[in-house]
This record gives sequence, C-alpha cells and structure tokens, in this order.
Amino acid sequence: ENVLKQRAVWKPRARPDMAALENQKWVFVERPGTGGASESLFRLESCPMPPPLEEGQALVGSYLFSLDPTIHNALRGPAGHSLTDQAGKSGYYDFMRWELDHTPSWMLIGVVKESRNAELPVGSFVSTFAPWQIFNVVTGATVLDCSDGVLPENHLSCIGMTGLTAAKPILKYARTKAGETAFVSGAAGATGLVAAQLLKAQGATVIGSAGTCEKVAMLESLGMKAFNYKEQGTLAALQELAPAGVDIYFDNVGGETLEATLEVMNDLGRIIACGAISQYDVPAEKRYGIKNLFHVVAKRLTIQGFIVSGDQFSAEETTEAQKMLHDALLNKTLVDKVNVVEGFSCLPAALIGLLRGQNTGKMMVKIPEMTNPDLEY
Ligand SMILES: NC(=O)c1ccc[n+]([C@@H]2O[C@H](COP(=O)([O-])OP(=O)(O)OC[C@H]3O[C@@H](n4cnc5c(N)ncnc54)[C@H](OP(=O)(O)O)[C@@H]3O)[C@@H](O)[C@H]2O)c1
Repeated sequence: ENVLKQRAVWKPRARPDMAALENQKWVFVERPGTGGASESLFRLESCPMPPPLEEGQALVGSYLFSLDPTIHNALRGPAGHSLTDQAGKSGYYDFMRWELDHTPSWMLIGVVKESRNAELPVGSFVSTFAPWQIFNVVTGATVLDCSDGVLPENHLSCIGMTGLTAAKPILKYARTKAGETAFVSGAAGATGLVAAQLLKAQGATVIGSAGTCEKVAMLESLGMKAFNYKEQGTLAALQELAPAGVDIYFDNVGGETLEATLEVMNDLGRIIACGAISQYDVPAEKRYGIKNLFHVVAKRLTIQGFIVSGDQFSAEETTEAQKMLHDALLNKTLVDKVNVVEGFSCLPAALIGLLRGQNTGKMMVKIPEMTNPDLEY
C-alpha cells in the first residue's frame, strides 16, 4: 500500500508517449537579467549514450529530478546574487554556481539500468547528484530502501533532503514549548509543509501562509491556521491569527514577510532562517531592505541560519532527524505531498514554476518510462 498520494496538479505541456528513450541533456546558456529567470535560459540537446561501462561504473537512468528554489541562486552565480562578489567567501556561494554552456548537476533519483559495481545492483533506485541528462554513468550513489511502502518520491520529499531541511533546524534550534505559536511561511511548499507538521506535532499552534485558497484549505485540513498572503497582508493576518504574538518563525520567504513577522515576534522568539524565495529572482541591488531589524535587539530574538547539508549538524543529529521523519511517514503523522510533472522536456518550466507558486509540496520532474525493465534505449 502506498503511503503517498500522487498529485500532478500542474503539467505545463503534453508529453508524447515514448516506447524508447534517446539520451538528451539540458544546457544552461544564459544568466537571468533584470527581468528574472525564464525557460529560455536553457537549451535541450541530444547527446550520445555513454560508452560501455568500465569496472566500478553503473548506468543510471534518471527517474525523478529534484527542483529547488535555491537553483535560482546558482543561475545568478557568486557575482550575481550578492552586493559584493562572494566567490571564495562561503562554501554555499562557491557551490551555488552553474557555469554557462554546461549541463548543470543537481539532485536526482535514478534507476540502475546496467552495472559493473556490486554496490549498485540493476533495478535499484539510487539517489545521486548528476547532470540534467536522461542517462548518466556514476561510480557512487546511495541505494534507497523502498520497502514498507516507501516510494522513491518520498525519498526526494519528506524523508529526503527536503524533510531534513525542516527537521534538522527544528530539532536543534526551535526549542518548541507546547502551547507556543509558530508561523511558517511558504507552508504549502515542500519544506514548509514538513516544518508546519513537525512544529504542530511538538505542540505548537501553527499558522501557515500560502499563495492560493486551495493551499490554505489544504493547510487547514491538516490542522493549521492559514492565510493567503496574496489576499491579506502578512502583518494583518498574523495580528488576527496570533493575537498573543509569534514565538517561532520558520522563514522560507524572507523580504517583506520577514519584516512583517518581526513586528509580531514575542520576546526571546526564535527565527529559523531557511530561505528567502521572494528575493532569489531579484537582482541584488533591488532586493527588499528590512526596516525593523532592531526588533532583534529589543526583543532579544535569535535568528539562526543553516544549510541542510552543512557541518553545523552532526552525523548523530542527521540520523535522529532521518529516523523521526521515516517513523512519522510510516505511522501517518507526517503527510507527504508531491507535485509530479512528467517529462524531461519540462525541467526548466518546473523550475520557473516554483517561483510562480505552481507547486503544492515537493516539485519534481519524472520520467515514468524509466522503471520499465524492458525499456529500449
Ligand atoms: N537552508 C537550506 O539548507 C535550504 C534547503 C532547501 C530549501 N531551502 C529553502 O526553503 C524554501 C522553500 O524551498 P522548497 O524547496 O520547499 O520550495 P517550495 O516551498 O516547495 O516552493 C516554493 C514556494 O514558494 C512560494 N513562493 C514563491 N515566490 C514567493 C514569494 N515571492 N513570496 C512568498 N512565497 C513565494 C510558492 O508558493 P505560494 O503559492 O505560497 O506563493 C512556491 O510554491 C526556499 O527558500 C529554499 O531556498 C533552504
């Protein structure tokens, strides 16, 4: 029995049925300008199948591509997403650099189609960082445990990097007390949805913001208070829904939303700075300038930034978070929602779709044919 409800709420294009797959790749050809990112920053190209495998290699067919807002930082590169060039100043900025005229590499789940590596058996699902290409040769990847009804989709979503992005900082920094009030922005997105459910399970009253009425209704059905930030200003909504103020803010959005939340934070409140999606596609000099940062001093707030894969979390903390998410998924106290877009040709459209709020839960692009053992390629 599957524990995940498949959703395909948004399909940008019809996908032709494929009996056989030829290798293709996406090439990153242009950085975003003042107008922001668009699908035309990428070009789809045919490419040859990899040569016969050498010892230690496996041929992996891409099955699920992870789409993440932070890719928009990689599009701008280290010189483009900050007021000064950050090259060499932080591991994050050095990593978040996609080079022009290259096929970018990002997280994906694939199926091992051929193998000369005993640790990567044919037919297994693996997660790896690999180029945006239909077939790749890898020498190392993590084999996924898909027993107990756990799906590859879950491994990309609530029990994978996305779930950990919520769980690790909440376990370490939220210091949630039962009865406190937590606010999660971007709460119907991949990370926000896990964060909201975890904070609620810890005993907080959770308020979530999202950009459509359908997303608000979904959050309410999971026991959150919720509002549509496009219809009601964040400050007014928080004043109404959190009359006693906010103790914990899980910030996915940044900018004006962070400024509004600072107004209603309680003394000694904790802000987990997860991301700033409202600002990624805006040139550095035009980003929103927050006017009330003195509240951090006056209210003695903690703003804690983090990078999920960074060394601020120990191996034990990561294992604890993984186990908690896995258990919660299996005992159904954590609901996973994924937004599957089918077809390799949809990768750039799905990436742009994140900024337009077209996803509910984890955005991923799937090549469904890849699980067919008789697939020709
Ligand atoms: N620190 C880390 O290690 C780490 C790791 C992964 C992700 N993150 C961050 O976590 C945040 C969420 O990422 P995700 O992968 O879970 O993506 P996501 O939330 O599934 O997708 C992005 C969502 O953000 C909302 N959004 C887009 N533009 C917005 C705007 N201008 N103002 C408010 N909301 C906007 C949209 O929903 P609406 O319909 O609600 O607008 C959209 O669906 C991002 O900031 C990301 O960078 C951080």
